[in-house]
Amino acid sequence: MRFDVFTLLPEVFPPYLDSSILQRARQRGLLDIHIHNIRDYAAGRHKVTDDVPYGGGGGMVMKPEPVFNAVESVLGPRPGIPLILLTPQGRVFDQRIAAELSKQPHLALVCGRYEGVDERIRQYLVTDEISIGDYVLTGGELPALVLIDALTRLLPDALGDPDGAADDSHASGLLEYPHFTRPPEFRGWCVPDILLSGDHAKIAQWRREQSLARTLQKRPDMLEKVELSGSERSFIEKLQGAA
Ligand code: ADE
Repeated sequence: MRFDVFTLLPEVFPPYLDSSILQRARQRGLLDIHIHNIRDYAAGRHKVTDDVPYGGGGGMVMKPEPVFNAVESVLGPRPGIPLILLTPQGRVFDQRIAAELSKQPHLALVCGRYEGVDERIRQYLVTDEISIGDYVLTGGELPALVLIDALTRLLPDALGDPDGAADDSHASGLLEYPHFTRPPEFRGWCVPDILLSGDHAKIAQWRREQSLARTLQKRPDMLEKVELSGSERSFIEKLQGAA
């Protein structure tokens, strides 16, 4: 999968992209990431990328020319791929959107900065707008990394595990079951016996029930959207009855 990222802060990307799973995915050719500095496409000696807002008010606005120039120079005048602006005004990113976008072979990400971007970028350049949550950051760089990270986990083979991200929280519409590792006892707190039993069918059932119980306790809203078997519904009802 290829990403072209357009940003005014290219230096924030390498430390994260050169670590852990993303680094491995890049080394193995699963992920091809190109970071472009929007400032390189700004005109004049001062390479100005922002300006005051028409109509007055505080803050600066990202100028349209450097952003259009950057995107069109790298991708051509009609890129024909999803061009996503990271902005708090976008649709709120979740695992469903991650799954949808991970099917694309090539995405472009535009990171906004300052108070916002000139509206013509939104109207005539980008094809989608994504927010990573209802709060405001100082720019779209962290959201772009969040998106790249979540999509990379969904690429076949990126996790180096045949089950990949299938068990991740949210992947099945439920929160993930609890994990334990060695030692079996730590400060008197023991790993549940079932996990040491070697009975894989029982372990799978325990994990599913833990997922259901956790989701009911922490994110009951998620249970309304997920498909459950009759016995899973009864399990939930039993838990609700006991509460
Ligand atoms: N830029 C600033 N805040 C943002 C957010 N919450 N999501 C995406 N881009 C942003």
